[in-house]
Amino acid sequence: MYVHTPVMLKQVLENVVSDDDKMFLDCTLGEGGHTEAVLKTFPEIKVCGIDRDCKIMEVAKNRMQPFGDRFQSFLMNFSEVGTLKEKGLSFDSALIDLGISVFHYKVSGRGFSFSREEPLDMRLDNEGESVADLVNNLPEEELRSILYKYAQERFAPMIAKKIVTYREKNPITLSTQLAEIIESAVPAKFRGGKIHPATKAFQALRIAVNHELDYIEPGIRAVLSLLKKGGRLGVITFHSLEDKIVKSLFKYMSLECECPPKIPKCVCGKIKEVEIVGKSFTADDDELKDNPPSRSARLRIVEKI
Ligand SMILES: C[S@@+](CC[C@H](N)C(=O)[O-])C[C@H]1O[C@@H](n2cnc3c(N)ncnc32)[C@H](O)[C@@H]1O
Repeated sequence: MYVHTPVMLKQVLENVVSDDDKMFLDCTLGEGGHTEAVLKTFPEIKVCGIDRDCKIMEVAKNRMQPFGDRFQSFLMNFSEVGTLKEKGLSFDSALIDLGISVFHYKVSGRGFSFSREEPLDMRLDNEGESVADLVNNLPEEELRSILYKYAQERFAPMIAKKIVTYREKNPITLSTQLAEIIESAVPAKFRGGKIHPATKAFQALRIAVNHELDYIEPGIRAVLSLLKKGGRLGVITFHSLEDKIVKSLFKYMSLECECPPKIPKCVCGKIKEVEIVGKSFTADDDELKDNPPSRSARLRIVEKI
């Protein structure tokens, strides 16, 4: 019934949420795997779930019906979560589980997967341009730059060129069509392997249309503004670009001072905002076996001070 398995659930339940917590904020509700487990494990807790995708939110809302008023949901981008303050909400713990859900690949019908023939959209919230808009309209250099920037695609020049040549004759409207164009652009020896040659390009285009990386820092700052002192925030990332942003922001927020080392007395006015909680977590062997998408996941936790 639910196609997404929540990642690093045990680590989240043991290290992000604690027994005394009364309010938990799930900033990336998805199908509600983490939220349901939190509601079951901590019978006193209430959960607010946020997602920018109204379709997946319907799935989660139905799933959480048995929990009655212990669960409420808000359709919004997590970068705007600070507005919940106006509703008088604050939280003891929170989770951001970045990226997209298996639901998007398997159920959404929006072209996230190159193995299904679907309209080439990939937007999470139906706003702005779709992937079809990008591949049919962007100049070749911009396409190339998206492929490099968001997936370090080494065949970016060849793929961008092929897309531009193809679209002169036919518009690109389907996920399978784009996958075939990309496959035909890469050198023959890179076709037919375990990993489809369109994997990286699809990731890059998805990140681009949803502006995924742009929301991470504002999102983390907004969530921390709603956390009570001592409250914990866990962030799960799925690739190095996301993790780099989270790691360096947490490091910066945990600094007491940013004065150059030679200055005898601190003049920067920097305030330490968080304490980094232990080392980052990766999935353990059991999870890697049972849930292969967890292989690239990393959980980082901070405590608000
Ligand atoms: C990895 S899934 C979450 C899975 C969820 N934890 C579960 O166990 O079912 C990420 C979810 O975050 C949502 N999402 C991604 N970026 C978002 C953003 N900036 N604001 C709100 N939701 C976002 C996606 O729509 C997707 O449903």
